[in-house]
Amino acid sequence: MKILVIGAGGREHALVWALRKSPRVNEIVCAPGNGGIAAIARCVPASLKDLNDLLRVVAAENPDLTVVGPELPLSLGLVDELRRRGLRVFGPTQAAAMLETSKAFAKRFMQRHNISTAAYAVCATEQEALDSLHLFHFPIVVKADGLAAGKGVVICNTKAEAEQAIAGLFNGKLLGTVESTVVLEEFLTGEELSFLVLSDGRHIIPLVPAQDHKRLGEGDTGPNTGGMGVYSTDAMLDAQMRDWLLHHIAQPTIDGMAAEDTPFTGVLYCGLMMTARGPMVLEYNARFGDPETQAILARLDSDLYEALEACAEGRLSETDLRWKSGASACVVAASGGYPGSYTNGYKITGLEEADKIPGVIVFHAGTALVGGEILTSGGRVLAVTATADTLEDALKHAYDAMGKIHFDGMVYRRDIGGRAVKR
Ligand code: AMP
Ligand code: GLY
Repeated sequence: MKILVIGAGGREHALVWALRKSPRVNEIVCAPGNGGIAAIARCVPASLKDLNDLLRVVAAENPDLTVVGPELPLSLGLVDELRRRGLRVFGPTQAAAMLETSKAFAKRFMQRHNISTAAYAVCATEQEALDSLHLFHFPIVVKADGLAAGKGVVICNTKAEAEQAIAGLFNGKLLGTVESTVVLEEFLTGEELSFLVLSDGRHIIPLVPAQDHKRLGEGDTGPNTGGMGVYSTDAMLDAQMRDWLLHHIAQPTIDGMAAEDTPFTGVLYCGLMMTARGPMVLEYNARFGDPETQAILARLDSDLYEALEACAEGRLSETDLRWKSGASACVVAASGGYPGSYTNGYKITGLEEADKIPGVIVFHAGTALVGGEILTSGGRVLAVTATADTLEDALKHAYDAMGKIHFDGMVYRRDIGGRAVKR
């Protein structure tokens, strides 16, 4: 089989790394890929923002299966176009991806299908949002409706902060694009959990759980990012709670989408808050998480290709996944300045020494291979991942590996998985 993976991040490096292990896969192409993916797959240039360019790549490569990594091509309808051409593709249609691309859609969907989530108000104007503030206690969460790469959520402790966030979203100063809809949400507290399931439109299979660390700074301080690190252990989700999440959140979501004639195939990412009132959905993503996928696939002990193919062909009920027991951890090294502006082009050293540490895989995110050197080329640069029998050891190996790596301005959190280790 020839596989085309669409994307350029650490998630796609992990997907390519896992797909390569399948005896059924003999060629992988990645569009556009990155400096690390280039070492294990053929990378071809492509613009993730340009549907026609992606269709051109698919036509030129003629893969047996296309796997779409990021949300942007899903939101542009890449999967719909490939299906229309009779091609096999892993990922949801544009209509199904609405679970991620519109938070207003997702909130109303959850309400229609009795899926637990925070109280909310969808507001179409700044005035409506200001008038709705009195419905909530502080802190309140102000969210952009559309895609914002993890940066469209503002937690506001005061009315003045909320007014500023609302104004910034509607006038475009916050994200650089003018929002036409803003969602206000009740602030929830608890442990976050990323619960991902594969779906063929009807059946689901859970992946191992993971916990992301969204804030830039240690102790969960500073701005939200795409994710600064993840850990995964079996202990973070017992079988009873996993079954509850399957029966009360994941399956009702898949059933609801099917009932509304927009069946969801691909990977459904349920971003949960485990509150004192029970698990509640913070957000859906219509794709693999980044960096969750790096930590999750590091633990996978079955053939990823077989599972993705089964999803694309609507026969997931014939499949099962096996996992390595123990734990994995993934620590992100980011460019100084991220999630704001930063400088690219710094040389990265120490990658080979880091890779030699037992159980370590250094996944590349924003890197480029230029003249034989690996240079920084994005906000999140590397996802240093390790597996081990215990979370302590997985973290130790990931941080030992991080200690070997250097680039100018490199920042990373030293406390990934720290709360779980203390517990
Ligand atoms: P989202 O993109 O909606 O997942 O939001 C990004 C991050 O913001 C989440 O992972 C949480 O850390 C935080 N967040 C979002 N919604 C809420 C909420 N209602 N209460 C508390 N934190 C939230
Ligand atoms: N790590 C969070 C996300 O992929 O959206």
